[in-house]
Amino acid sequence: MIRVLGIETSCDETAASVVALADDGRPQILSNAVLSQIEEHAAFGGVVPEIAARAHVEALDGLIEAALTDAGTTLADVDAVAATAGPGLVGGLIVGLMTAKAIAAAAGKPLLAVNHLEGHALTPRLTDGLSFPYLLLLVSGGHTQIVLVRGVGDYQRWATTIDDALGEAFDKTAKMLGLPYPGGPNVEKAARAGDAARFAFPRPMKGEARPDFSFSGLKTAVRQAATAIAPLSEQDVADICASFQAAVTDALADRVSRALERFRAEYPDAAGPALVVAGGVAANRLVRSTLEKLCADNGFGFVAPPLALCTDNAAMIAWAGIERLRAGLTQADGIDFSPRSRWPLDSVSA
Ligand code: KG4
Ligand code: ZN
Repeated sequence: MIRVLGIETSCDETAASVVALADDGRPQILSNAVLSQIEEHAAFGGVVPEIAARAHVEALDGLIEAALTDAGTTLADVDAVAATAGPGLVGGLIVGLMTAKAIAAAAGKPLLAVNHLEGHALTPRLTDGLSFPYLLLLVSGGHTQIVLVRGVGDYQRWATTIDDALGEAFDKTAKMLGLPYPGGPNVEKAARAGDAARFAFPRPMKGEARPDFSFSGLKTAVRQAATAIAPLSEQDVADICASFQAAVTDALADRVSRALERFRAEYPDAAGPALVVAGGVAANRLVRSTLEKLCADNGFGFVAPPLALCTDNAAMIAWAGIERLRAGLTQADGIDFSPRSRWPLDSVSA
């Protein structure tokens, strides 16, 4: 049995979790404590780094204690301490990584400095026992990427956004329309009563050979439409939201279908090829159902981990720690490991 304490503080969620790997290879989440800071940032319409760092300082010790208690364990019984070391807001990363170093040093346990994106990338192995290789679509407030996951520490980024992240596009659209933060869920809610055909918004990058994403042109189109008909009625807002959602989903499907094709070409013999979605935008029902259908039409499995494990959490960090321990990839994580605000997944050491 291996038990790892995980710590996540890279954005606006403070989280701690204990995950175990039984001797028969079965993983188990023993505890998963998450405290969202959404309310502290809502008044500012987005995450304020200084407020986030302070809130992590205030909450983290209590959350770690809660995670250990919920798991029925103590520090003496964990085999390692894993913390997100990047990418993310550096203030928050410092809080989490320093805390992990202090605990690891005091308890005499190894420290695992985990890449946040690796946490998202390995989650379907915790939740669904997925085997390599598979494709990951990460769509959150900070990231929009398609990653080939070949093994632990073995990732290849196939596509990324050349401007805004998809969640950011949702959040900015919401802000322009006067909907509260975080924008994604509110845009989705408003869209339900809207006419998706009223505005012909652009489908950025659709049909282009370059595999990447782009959302800033769409944002501009939304702004122009909103300005042209201001003041906006509730129906106008609903129609813009529905039309925006249709445009991003369509653009996303185009980009993802290219990646599925490439995967097929590179791994013609892969049994049960799968696309995994992670990140907050994966909560969007239209995004989910569109991708699910796209996968079904292309003979791909569609894996969407439960929402609580698909958005930021510490169980994924503890799990990535277990995967790295199991693969013997801990040599680089000394007590001198520094937080990295930028840390592309394909540069993670293997
Ligand atoms: O993964 P996440 O919780 O945090 C990080 O960004 O790391 O993702 C948050 C993002 C926000 O931009 C939020 O607006 C978006 O996910 N989001 C959604 C929905 N729920 C959350 N976007 C579209 N539809 C949703 N239902
Ligand atoms: Zn994340």
